[in-house]
Amino acid sequence: MQKSETIPLKRLLEKKYVEILCYPRHDEKEAEKRLRELKKLGVKALEFAGEKKAFDVCVLGKGYVGIVIIAHTDMGKAALKIRRIDADRAGMQHEAEMLKRANDVGVGPKLLGVTGNFLLMQFIKGKQLPKWVETLKGRGTKTRIRKVLHDILEQCYRLDKAHLDHGELSHAPKHIIVCADNSPYIVDFETASVNRRVSNVTSICQYVFIGSQLAKTMKKRLEEVNTETLVHALKAYKQEPTKENFEKVLVVCGLQS
Ligand SMILES: Nc1ncnc2c1ncn2[C@@H]1O[C@H](COP(=O)(O)OP(=O)(O)O)[C@@H](O)[C@H]1O
Ligand SMILES: [Mg+2]
Repeated sequence: MQKSETIPLKRLLEKKYVEILCYPRHDEKEAEKRLRELKKLGVKALEFAGEKKAFDVCVLGKGYVGIVIIAHTDMGKAALKIRRIDADRAGMQHEAEMLKRANDVGVGPKLLGVTGNFLLMQFIKGKQLPKWVETLKGRGTKTRIRKVLHDILEQCYRLDKAHLDHGELSHAPKHIIVCADNSPYIVDFETASVNRRVSNVTSICQYVFIGSQLAKTMKKRLEEVNTETLVHALKAYKQEPTKENFEKVLVVCGLQS
């Protein structure tokens, strides 16, 4: 793996970094503007590290809207989402607002700041859920998986209660990060909405237990969840999203505590 490099703001106008600040183009004027936004956010340096690549530098993640990298501020390390210059979003305000609402019910990385082109949030050090499950070994594995899944479903229930639909949980290989202390974080509230019918619990169950590569892995690692019974429990929950019906879903998934 390539070594990580920490670059102070004053060096960010070098070509290699301009291309990241304004991904995927080289636009010096735009980079200067973005640099001022970074100063406003209190960012002192950017750290290029992580398992993904954007051009030839290491980053934490890359999606259709953003590039996510580590930023250093006076408060320590944070995650910085950079709006891609070709993103079909006008700014980061909507995502910040959705993340803030998620934070209000204890979900997602903590929002630390926002400008037109950047969202600064808590840095989540961990592995994406499928990789985390794959690399788990040894005693206590089942208990750990169950604890993490229980937590994720509970967070989804809280999002449902808050009428905040994440929007990308039915296929979420990149949107749940699990830390070394077994705490899972749901990320990317870019497509979240408070104007849709919520389906966080049903979507995540679909993804984890019914129709995905991860569901196949789960079948091997945990006692098999009966699809028909789960679909039935989810239907009841969808009709009446009560705590009681949610707990029935947990029971069917083998996650009751
Ligand atoms: N707070 C964070 N801490 C660590 N990694 C993150 C954080 N937020 C996002 N990531 C990583 O960056 C990737 C891309 O971020 P995401 O918000 O999904 O961007 P996009 O909206 O472009 O899809 C994620 O899949 C995740 O792996
Ligand atoms: Mg994403």
